[in-house]
Amino acid sequence: MSTRWGILATGGIAHAFARDLALLPDAELVAVGSRTQATAEAFGEEFAIPHRHGSYQALVEDPDVDAVYVSTPHPGHHDAALMAIAAGKAVLVEKPFAMDAAEAREMVDAARAAGTLLVEAMWTRFLPHIARIREILAAGTLGEIVYLTAEHGQWFANDPQFRLFAPSLGGGALLDLGIYPVSFAHFVLGTPAKITAVSRAAFTGVDATTSMILQYGSGAQAILTTSLAAASANPAAIYGTEARLEIDGWFYTPTTFRVVSRDGTVLERYDVPHEGHGLRHEAAEVGRCLQAGLTESPLLPLEETLAIMGTLDEVRRQIGLDYSALAP
Ligand SMILES: NC(=O)c1ccc[n+]([C@@H]2O[C@H](COP(=O)([O-])OP(=O)(O)OC[C@H]3O[C@@H](n4cnc5c(N)ncnc54)[C@H](OP(=O)(O)O)[C@@H]3O)[C@@H](O)[C@H]2O)c1
Repeated sequence: MSTRWGILATGGIAHAFARDLALLPDAELVAVGSRTQATAEAFGEEFAIPHRHGSYQALVEDPDVDAVYVSTPHPGHHDAALMAIAAGKAVLVEKPFAMDAAEAREMVDAARAAGTLLVEAMWTRFLPHIARIREILAAGTLGEIVYLTAEHGQWFANDPQFRLFAPSLGGGALLDLGIYPVSFAHFVLGTPAKITAVSRAAFTGVDATTSMILQYGSGAQAILTTSLAAASANPAAIYGTEARLEIDGWFYTPTTFRVVSRDGTVLERYDVPHEGHGLRHEAAEVGRCLQAGLTESPLLPLEETLAIMGTLDEVRRQIGLDYSALAP
């Protein structure tokens, strides 16, 4: 059975999601909701979407929608998700899932009480190369994991109106870009026992460049950096006692990787062509979970989403990034 999607908010990533959804069999884009009717009409026109709603409330109440994709700026995720859950919809919420762990907990509690499906749209987690890396980690090919590195740096011109610089829109590198390395570390090593973070602020007070060292009960370490002031090649690597796994940039998008033994032998080359952006894999997972009657995805359980939000909270505490104290 096809999953009938409604897109909530019509910004940059909503466009990418709509385009990629068109490549997915068993998915139909039936509705869009925007803060204004005119924007809903324009987006609906662009993607031939039959139902166009001039409010988020009207979208979540659309009886033809099975699953809602929440793609507002971060501070809107909590309220939009709660609205969709209250209407009984399955919800896929863009990253970061919420502004902090407390908001995230409310969303998870509401979905559990309603018995509805809730998934964090950390699209990387559902990509084909990550599925293969999951198998390699489970097989123990790398030996004991000693450390990993991951970075996400992009350069943006200083613009106080731009979402990434605006405190009122949850700006800063950490929540928008840094969440990819953080989520990757959680994927490989679980919840850290100790976090150490340093940061330099942008001109609006949000974080511009943030580096983190995560330490684990196993003794492993994760070394992570994010920046909105420098363009990185965005690689990641996992180093084990037997072999290392080198993911080419950009590690969190569809890409290639190698497994190299400690004597330098290439044990595996992953180089599978990928069509489209890659956002559809998270939508496919929502469809699969709905069909199977699941209320969360086993590939990214809600407790892990909460743990990731907890790590981000601790980093923000250490670097002194308090949105309520910054001018909007
Ligand atoms: N997975 C990915 O690769 C990826 C990439 C980029 C962004 N994201 C995430 O997706 C979310 C949206 O990012 P984006 O780049 O699409 O943002 P964007 O281009 O600024 O669009 C956000 C949309 O949210 C709605 N909105 C609601 N309240 C708003 C407000 N106060 N100010 C501005 N817009 C508001 C607007 O749609 P209406 O006017 O229709 O209501 C707007 O078009 C963020 O949480 C971000 O982290 C994910």
